[in-house]
Amino acid sequence: MKASMPAVILGLLSLVACTQLQPGLPPDEAVDFLSEVKPLLESRCLECHHRRYLCAGLNLETKALAMKGGRSGRVIIPGAPHQSLLYRVLKLGHESPVAMPPTPEGVELEEVKLVHDWILQGAHWPAEVRLVPPQDWKHPRS
Ligand code: HEC
Repeated sequence: MKASMPAVILGLLSLVACTQLQPGLPPDEAVDFLSEVKPLLESRCLECHHRRYLCAGLNLETKALAMKGGRSGRVIIPGAPHQSLLYRVLKLGHESPVAMPPTPEGVELEEVKLVHDWILQGAHWPAEVRLVPPQDWKHPRS
């Protein structure tokens, strides 16, 4: 049977545009909380999610607090980024009032992927590591 024209075009296109994954490739690299996730959360999220300025009841200072979640309940479900509000709010477009961070500069796509992979890989966060808001943080109402 002769292949139809659209099928041929699609076939050619996928030859040049798509890379086939090789079975046995290593999984996505392990995300390092201390050097990758912590700086992102501290610089982009902590200013509004710590004990002195607690938006939506969500405190991201320690793992225990972060795991407790906020007003909507748990925001990190280890192993399940798509059920984790902490990841989902990063993917929302800025037309959404709950997109995070709620500033014109969103997070980079790479950073969104980082949070995704970190949660997927179990959301490791050593219990003794406390996150702090940026150095120049001032209470918005002061
Ligand atoms: C400028 C302040 C500000 C910053 C920065 C900020 N948030 Fe928020 N966050 C808020 C506010 C305000 C809400 C409540 C939004 C609403 O529902 O009206 C919120 C809500 C949330 C919620 C929902 C919590 C719940 O239980 O409903 C999550 C998750 C969240 N933020 C994560 C983040 C993350 C992750 C970052 C960093 C990438 C971040 N936020 C940065 C102010 C901020």
